[in-house]
Amino acid sequence: MKALVLAGGKGTRLRPLTHTSAKQLVPVANKPVLYYGLEAIRDAGITEVGIITGDTGAEVREAVGDGSRFGLEVTYIPQEAPLGLAHCVLIAQEFLGDEPFVMYLGDNFLVGGISDLVGAFRRGGYDAQVLLTRVSEPQFYGVAELGPAGEIIGLQEKPAFPRSDMAVVGVYSFSPAIHEAVRAITPSARGELEITDAIQWLIDNGRAVHSHLVTGYWKDTGRLQDLLECNRMILETVEPDNRGTVDGLSEITGRVVIEPGAVVENSVLRGPIVVGADAKIQSSYVGPFTTIGPRCVVQDTEVEYSIVLDDSSIHGVSRLAHSLIGRNVEVSRAEGTPNTYGLMVGDHSRIQVRA
Ligand code: DAU
Repeated sequence: MKALVLAGGKGTRLRPLTHTSAKQLVPVANKPVLYYGLEAIRDAGITEVGIITGDTGAEVREAVGDGSRFGLEVTYIPQEAPLGLAHCVLIAQEFLGDEPFVMYLGDNFLVGGISDLVGAFRRGGYDAQVLLTRVSEPQFYGVAELGPAGEIIGLQEKPAFPRSDMAVVGVYSFSPAIHEAVRAITPSARGELEITDAIQWLIDNGRAVHSHLVTGYWKDTGRLQDLLECNRMILETVEPDNRGTVDGLSEITGRVVIEPGAVVENSVLRGPIVVGADAKIQSSYVGPFTTIGPRCVVQDTEVEYSIVLDDSSIHGVSRLAHSLIGRNVEVSRAEGTPNTYGLMVGDHSRIQVRA
């Protein structure tokens, strides 16, 4: 069995971060989302992995390399444009050959791994295994309509009027029958070859499509609130570990990880938190569910429920929450009069101010 990991696409909902970097490499608890997926694949006993890449291919290659540090053998499959999830299968056919495979969307986050799912698929002899989970806003996902015995009778991609609240999770298992399906379908109204259409084709052609209800934690990290939620989830599981330097004036409570070289002075840290390597926290409050990236500087600031990426600095700001701050960003207090905000913000940024 092989795996196909999708790490191309546009990432429009996480702009401006995704103007310059891959959405699959945005870190959760200081580790790229994509790594969690690769580890789950390895833990399921799969070693041959094809990774679909797009415009950010160089960055993905740099981050994953030949896969050996994950115990994987990685083959990169460049996609000329984000033409759809089924298009990814189409261009990966040579890599996949006649083997069954798991298709893992590189921005999906599934707690509990995929070993059981892969095992069930292997034993079941299905042509497709689709994971489903109940969501409150099904219109943002692929949606399954189930028959009386729980079998999938129809799939729709992001329908305006969903027929159920069962969303398709971005981890699929396929037999080689999917290759015929992806060749048979045509692009959707949004111009993509949809994997939901390919699975519908399998259903319509009498192939065995099995669904499995995911009860554990799953998130598509393509949106800010979901990314912050994933961060919260993972931080809940970290074990306190101080490998940095904390002075006597600071107070640390709860699950707090301080990575090597990080310095905490005159500050209150209430976990769960991860402070990245060589970061500096001075005269600040860092509250629950916050990840501070490597080499960041946080000074005279209060921040919680946020992700701050590498090499950024926050000075004199109170109080930041529900925020995702990119790399090399400077946030600071404006001094003097008039009492104004001074902004230099990238395209497609979102800022909420207390006016
Ligand atoms: O997250 C689950 C949802 O994922 C499913 O419920 C939907 O049925 C499925 O279509 C997909 O919807 P998204 O809108 O979230 O897909 P997105 O465009 O974000 O792409 C998912 C991943 O695949 C992402 O890591 C980017 C990558 N990708 C996407 C496209 C369209 C590619 O590598 N190539 C592509 O052409």
